[in-house]
Amino acid sequence: MVGDPHFPDYFMHKLLVTGGSLLEGDVYVSGSKNSALPILAATLLTRDQCVIHRVPDLSDTNYMTQILASLGAHVERASGTVMVEAEDVKSEAPYDLVRRMRASICVMGPLLGRTGEAMVSLPGGCVIGDRPVDLHLRGLEQLGASVSVQGGNMHIKAVEGMGGREVNMRGKHGSTVLGTDNLMMAAVLVPGTTVIEGAAMEPEVEDLANFLIRMGAKIEGAGTRRIVIEGVRELHGAEHTVIADRIEAGTFLIAGAIAGKRVTLRRCCPEHMTAFLKTLTDSGYPVTVEGDSITVSRADNPRGGEIRTEPYPGFPTDMQAQFTALYASVPGISVITETIFPQRFMHVPELNRMGAQITLEGATAVIKGVPQLSGAPVMASDLRASAALVLAGLGAEGETEINRLYHIDRGYEHIDDKLSRLGANVRRVKA
Ligand code: EPZ
Repeated sequence: MVGDPHFPDYFMHKLLVTGGSLLEGDVYVSGSKNSALPILAATLLTRDQCVIHRVPDLSDTNYMTQILASLGAHVERASGTVMVEAEDVKSEAPYDLVRRMRASICVMGPLLGRTGEAMVSLPGGCVIGDRPVDLHLRGLEQLGASVSVQGGNMHIKAVEGMGGREVNMRGKHGSTVLGTDNLMMAAVLVPGTTVIEGAAMEPEVEDLANFLIRMGAKIEGAGTRRIVIEGVRELHGAEHTVIADRIEAGTFLIAGAIAGKRVTLRRCCPEHMTAFLKTLTDSGYPVTVEGDSITVSRADNPRGGEIRTEPYPGFPTDMQAQFTALYASVPGISVITETIFPQRFMHVPELNRMGAQITLEGATAVIKGVPQLSGAPVMASDLRASAALVLAGLGAEGETEINRLYHIDRGYEHIDDKLSRLGANVRRVKA
């Protein structure tokens, strides 16, 4: 299984990318990692069988299925389909699995909703910056739950009269995606009307709500800042197909912009990608949209741009590193300001090792485009920074060696196979 950390030498895998190939052809976009993770967690809310299609084969989704199994659920996986039957569920999530993936925190809401209690370890730090959980805990308290943090664990308990309240999820960096997910999943089985103000509007939040509604939940307003939930007594099993991964799709669009002749994405949701499609066309790259396909061609006169990451529907922070890699070899000065994770620039020193001219001023990267980057051994760090290094290697002179490949396998399904099918010179080797 991809990203199986129990493979002794898995951690030594690296990717060799040799620039110079012209990419051409179709790439089929996988199901969304950031939609599949909370939807898998939501299967804990019913004892019936749930069937989830288009779950990408990633180490993150594998971790989530392991967590569900460790909580007592019966889990089966057949390629992109996962079947979950959570007849009896424990309320304590296992530390050794939870500590490996921050997104595990999204089992908190369903455990509370199903069992009336949740014990989940505090997520560890993360290279993209501070990852607090205060908004999750504040929201659950506003819902009426008792919340305590002790010994590195969050302990949430349902109390009499819980629910039927107004909860505000807004923080200094805008709304919280997984926080909104947790509150929705905690509230669907709580009596009364719960209103979530300042909710995240990401398509993945809406996809989770659509799955919960299929299970019998009463939810209105998902995809807007205000979500209204009418509690129901119980939820039943459901079948659901996860939406396309807009960030994987965007990453391959940048591959086409950097090294394409012409790359077409299939089975994606262009309506979820408007902010960065506009940024790409504003930078001179011809983009055409037809149904669930998007084609990007090489630009005659590419130019830099100005980006400011924002909560959806603004420019997504998860596409910031990929655009930094693009702008590194585009004429002119580009400026990228990261408002969601101000420290999310682990890719910058590695891109500069490849000859990029990027300076950081606080949460702003100022990029002076150079004619071409040079291949070099670089170190992957977080998921999107690692993808940015692969993209940079596609357009660089010579060979780029990307170490710690497990970062990429967390969020990109078979990225080397997909790039090779486009004509890229990419090889996965064991160090
Ligand atoms: C989700 O993380 C995504 N992960 C992230 O994608 C994505 O970058 C992020 O949303 C923002 O879009 C998944 O969906 C699994 P947040 P999440 O809570 O929900 C602050 C990737 O590359 N905040 O929306 O954990 C936080 O520090 C990953 O696929 C608080 O202050 O992010 C940040 O500044 C990386 N208190 C902002 O809110 C809290 O309690 C947005 O974070 C929670 C968050």
